Amino acid sequence: MKIHKCKSPKYSRKIRFGDLTLYISDDVYEPAEDTLLIAKNLKAEGLVLDMGTGCGILSILAAYEAEHVVAVDINPYAARCAKLNIEINGVSGKVDIIVGDLFAPLIEKSIFDMILFNAPYLPTEEAEPKSPIEYAWAGGRSGRKIIDSFIKQAPKHLKIGGKILVVQSTLSNVEKTIREFNKQGLKARIIDKQNLFFETIVLIEAIKDMSS
Ligand SMILES: C[S@@+](CC[C@H](N)C(=O)[O-])C[C@H]1O[C@@H](n2cnc3c(N)ncnc32)[C@H](O)[C@@H]1O
Repeated sequence: MKIHKCKSPKYSRKIRFGDLTLYISDDVYEPAEDTLLIAKNLKAEGLVLDMGTGCGILSILAAYEAEHVVAVDINPYAARCAKLNIEINGVSGKVDIIVGDLFAPLIEKSIFDMILFNAPYLPTEEAEPKSPIEYAWAGGRSGRKIIDSFIKQAPKHLKIGGKILVVQSTLSNVEKTIREFNKQGLKARIIDKQNLFFETIVLIEAIKDMSS
């Protein structure tokens, strides 16, 4: 997958989320209902991976409770934006930020207690996003390109007893996500959902227990 180069970003929006202040540039996903679905169900502990960190909001919330957080995003503008927000919200000592494609930039032995992913899921004409912001929603022709790749790779980066929280939409086959997690030996179920105009977004929890 192509990694775009980052020019000087302009932070055109400043938003508040509870006590957090977040700056967002036009090239970065602005937190929305899907972000909030994870945020309101988040009880972070140990070592957390925030996959697709965007503006860094979930990393910041996780860092208040967890020992340490690793934030990954393929969009270099997101990584820059997350760095700024992580600093101004006082948790830069607890979060590492990495630019890259899913688990590719992590060393094989990186094992987490919790993995979060508000995944891109919209079916798109183009196989590859044309601009950095499109990574936020572009799921390839089936809408499942990123989520399927994530499900294949995530279990080996999760501790026994560890938990994955993924947000997904009814637009891209939630049942398949649960089946694919189960095939990988994880116990997956929907723990929360929200109806939007054209879709329902669901929060899926997948646990790796002793039998996995
Ligand atoms: C829906 S946004 C979520 C952003 C943020 N976590 C939130 O909840 O507001 C999805 C994020 O995943 C990132 N992303 C998409 N494909 C990725 C990939 N292959 N590897 C890493 N990050 C990816 C996007 O750049 C985007 O920032």
